[in-house]
Amino acid sequence: MEGGPIRVLVTGAAGFIGSNLVESLLQRGDEVVGLDALTDYYDPAIKRANVERLASPRYRFIEGDLADLDAETLVGLDVRAVLHLAGQPGVRGSWGEQFGAYTHANVLATQRLLEAVKAAPGVRVIYASSSSVYGQAETYPTTEETLPAPYSPYGVTKLAGEHLVGLYRANDGLDTVAFRFFTVYGPGQRPDMAFTRFLTAARDGDTIRVFGDGEQIRDFTYVGDIVSALIAALDSERPLPRVMNLSGGSSVSVNQVLDVVRSVTGLDVGVRYEPHVRGDVFRTGGSSEKAQDALGWHPETSLESGLARQWEWVRGLA
Ligand code: UGA
Repeated sequence: MEGGPIRVLVTGAAGFIGSNLVESLLQRGDEVVGLDALTDYYDPAIKRANVERLASPRYRFIEGDLADLDAETLVGLDVRAVLHLAGQPGVRGSWGEQFGAYTHANVLATQRLLEAVKAAPGVRVIYASSSSVYGQAETYPTTEETLPAPYSPYGVTKLAGEHLVGLYRANDGLDTVAFRFFTVYGPGQRPDMAFTRFLTAARDGDTIRVFGDGEQIRDFTYVGDIVSALIAALDSERPLPRVMNLSGGSSVSVNQVLDVVRSVTGLDVGVRYEPHVRGDVFRTGGSSEKAQDALGWHPETSLESGLARQWEWVRGLA
């Protein structure tokens, strides 16, 4: 899809990863249609600010629920690709009463989008899946061939969405790819996620709350590296694999993150250990060889430099 500006639809455009992606697409001259339901999982004012910050004659924002998108509307948007980042996020909040929001946003809305895309031949669908599909894996690093076995209701819905994307590809020949993102961080990170919570606590002189003993390991991935992979998938003229990991290559424990937080902020932040939360896996760690082979992608941002950029952003919010 190379050669000149293109027009794309970004779902979840007002969110953390979506707004970072829209910014990069606009910077390189593309035309962007952003769609977002502005749900209240966290303060929608943050999402509105993300949209307003990116105002441009080349950016059209539509507030709406993707589950209501019909084929005619999608065809009318005349886009070359859909970067499908919309969804109900959060591993630890996906239990009980909340589950309906997860099936709606992660399963039903994805199915509706795929039905609409069937009427728009040639549109590539790039789906944001999650490392949560792996659950408590038996061996690490997990590859795309590792049998997915989610450990949270959230992971089940992301895997269901991923399967929907794959089965429309297999049945209808849709041009799709699903990326499994591993714990993404950086400027704009959601307020419920670890790094924003840790850095906000440091800034405000509060105590950091760690769930469990802090020995859980994550393969944290910088948002700019995720955006690079999404843009590489958008531009690639080759058929892409059905699913690819995007992992940052920094498998570190939450306790090790606290050391980096202290060194980046220069503050001696207090920590309180709280009970482990259901659904939280002991470890994530992915191989990103497939993305390297298919797209020449590899993560470029170290945890120290990425966290320093997130610290600058958190300080600017005060
Ligand atoms: C993140 C995202 O929230 C999911 O939407 C995404 O799908 C998932 O990554 C993924 O990779 O698939 P998570 O790994 O739980 O989920 O990300 P964080 O919220 O940054 O948590 C990282 C670790 O820090 C977890 O073990 C969590 O329990 C811990 N944590 C988080 C704390 O100890 N204290 C906190 O205040 C917040």
